[in-house]
Amino acid sequence: MTDILSIRDLTVEYTTRRGTARAVDTVSLNLEENRTLGLAGESGCGKSTLGRAIMRLVSYPGRIVEGEIIFNIEEDIQAEKHSINRGDVDLRELSEDQMRMLRGKEIAYIFQDPMTSLNPMLSIGDHFTQLMKAHDPEIEKEAALERAGELLDSLGISPERVKDYPHQFSGGMRQRVMIGLGLALRPKLLISDEPTTSLDVIVEAQILEEMAELKEEFNLTMILITHNLGVLAQTADDIAIMYTGRLVEIAPTDVLFEDPQHPYTQALLDSVPDVTKPEKKLSWIPGAPPDLVESPPGCMFHPRCPFVMDVCREVVPSLSESKIGGKVACHLYTGG
Ligand SMILES: Nc1ncnc2c1ncn2[C@@H]1O[C@H](COP(=O)(O)OP(=O)(O)O)[C@@H](O)[C@H]1O
Ligand SMILES: [Mg+2]
Repeated sequence: MTDILSIRDLTVEYTTRRGTARAVDTVSLNLEENRTLGLAGESGCGKSTLGRAIMRLVSYPGRIVEGEIIFNIEEDIQAEKHSINRGDVDLRELSEDQMRMLRGKEIAYIFQDPMTSLNPMLSIGDHFTQLMKAHDPEIEKEAALERAGELLDSLGISPERVKDYPHQFSGGMRQRVMIGLGLALRPKLLISDEPTTSLDVIVEAQILEEMAELKEEFNLTMILITHNLGVLAQTADDIAIMYTGRLVEIAPTDVLFEDPQHPYTQALLDSVPDVTKPEKKLSWIPGAPPDLVESPPGCMFHPRCPFVMDVCREVVPSLSESKIGGKVACHLYTGG
């Protein structure tokens, strides 16, 4: 299988008056075609920053300071001045014009909040036609609207509703519209940031199921960002766990749930309710994640870790092979 995305030592910093916060700290990971990677971790650990960095959309005062974002382009992209040849390209080396061609068409990003991403003055159909015309000025309005109708239909929204405006839709419907817009240009990679966080659990379950069906239909590779590990149990092939900007564990979903290796992953899973085990006691993780500006030396999790050893206070653990077929960054497994 080809890796559609391969991230090497990606580091993103926000420079503020208080100092520099490393929101993404030397993250490396590979993503195979047609798989869904779940990206999880507590709020503020850098998930959105990592997702946006892949699209080169980190907003001021943040910037990518190090690393490579290698993306596999299947077919040559022809354009007047900024053609891109197929093969592996480091997105950091592309011009802003080249990135603009890739965004939406090769890599699409569904933002966390659908209400602020939709323009209240434009109908849903206008959103679709503007997006499609931006990438293909030749496309007829009718053709764009027909495509919009088909996408809405597969997301359980009647195609006639292309003429309606965002405020005429419920929260769940708006999120479906966002997913439809994300898929409109048939991207290879879809990054979806907390797509169901603001919705009730029934609508959440429906939308996740629709996304799984669309993933098959569109041959998509997905990154699904969420602070809710429960959401990933059914939808992700692999899960990456982030803690204060660092990747601490990555593994296939089923084994990660069965036998989590990193103490932070264990703690996160202990806080997920399990309907099949009502007797399970829910626990929470004592303490709070460290301040990113004044982060502790050694392993970032050591102040909260029940298994802390001397080495953890001094040395940053590197990400190494774990016995469950993934990778883990913890001194417990490297003999300290
Ligand atoms: N606009 C910003 N200005 C300064 N710091 C920011 C900004 N956005 C994010 N950060 C920093 O980056 C960290 C990670 O943020 P984010 O990527 O949004 O996390 P998540 O999506 O996991 O909740 C935050 O804890 C914060 O310290
Ligand atoms: Mg976020």
